[in-house]
Amino acid sequence: MVRTLLIDNIGELTTNDETLGSGLGGRLADAAVLIEGERIAWVGPAAQAPAADERIDAEGRALLPGWVDSHTHMVFAGDRTAEFEARMAGEAYAAGGINVTVNATRAASDAELEANLARLVGEARRDGTTTMETKTGYGLTVADEVRSARVAATQADAVTFLGAHVVPAGVDPAAYLDLVTGKMLDAVAPLVSAVDVFCESGAFDEAQTRRILETAAAKGLATRVHGNQLGHGPGTQLAVEHGSLSVDHLGFLTDDDIAALAGSWGEGSRGTVARGTVATVLPACDLSTRMPLAPARKLVDAGAVVAIASNCNPGTSYTSSMGFCVATAVLQMGLTVQEAVRAATLGGAIALGMHEDGWIDPRGAAQPRVGVVSPGARADLQLLNAPSVTHLAYRPGMRLTEAVWKAGTRVV
Ligand code: NIG
Repeated sequence: MVRTLLIDNIGELTTNDETLGSGLGGRLADAAVLIEGERIAWVGPAAQAPAADERIDAEGRALLPGWVDSHTHMVFAGDRTAEFEARMAGEAYAAGGINVTVNATRAASDAELEANLARLVGEARRDGTTTMETKTGYGLTVADEVRSARVAATQADAVTFLGAHVVPAGVDPAAYLDLVTGKMLDAVAPLVSAVDVFCESGAFDEAQTRRILETAAAKGLATRVHGNQLGHGPGTQLAVEHGSLSVDHLGFLTDDDIAALAGSWGEGSRGTVARGTVATVLPACDLSTRMPLAPARKLVDAGAVVAIASNCNPGTSYTSSMGFCVATAVLQMGLTVQEAVRAATLGGAIALGMHEDGWIDPRGAAQPRVGVVSPGARADLQLLNAPSVTHLAYRPGMRLTEAVWKAGTRVV
């Protein structure tokens, strides 16, 4: 017999399902949610709530989907405090710092990498994250990238191959491109659901990025792009052209880039497409690198599908706090609270291809959709110690997440 749990007396419920509630976010007041096993079984007015084996009184507080963090780099060792201090003293971020973490990661044992990942995943959970992507990219040899993917698969909900992070120190760029599109990709492919490339000056240029995206697609793998982080460049246009799931960073976008992202979801320059490219903004990274904030307001206004992610990594964004990212997107990037909450939940799910039932997790299990509070969806929820999601931006810096359920199990 599958046990049921009723979360009752919810003051404000964000469903992200406009058939269930009003406004952006499909909000309901005085609501209840029934969980049956790993899934949501019923959502509606508290006055009509069905009976359940167990009942939790939310005492008028806000309930919403757990955060879906679609961009992290959590398999690493060491930190880069000195680099951060230098940056805060005026130095610019450069991709070359990645090699510092590559050296520390290669020198670490499996147990050290797993323990560090567990620490970071635990921090993220306590802050309301229930679904998390993480990338390889600090190994950059065949053996170290395979090891990173294996470690990631023990705890992440999606694993992305980022062998094309930088060309490792002392390696010939042409030989490395052959490796990353050949032997390394073949070795990692069974362990990952997508391939990513850092398309930027100091990392991979347009021709190299094209080759990586085309090789990945030929092997049936989804793609993502790190684009337009350090300057204007081809990353966004390449991601849209190749039908990548997302392009992430986006501090330096032209109006044409924004139009391409918006157009990727409908009648754009390439005609009607079934699925577009999500524009993923990384507010904590923009702040930590003192780079321009991604134009999230313009992207939403243009009709792009926007996700917010933490980009947790030791170089550019050493935080997994999605609450902080949501507050920053509201206070600094001009999104409304409802837009930011949607981008950090359903937006992330779309960027990961997890907004529909049947996505496969790294352990090979088919999973229900995430990012919504709707019958049939995975019961991934967070209860705030606040009456409304508005408090996430109204009370910046406060940890408001009080309880978290992942697949129906209370984890915080
Ligand atoms: O997403 N931009 C490339 N990769 C990471 C930074 C990695 C690092 O500096 O260690 C990012 O910001």
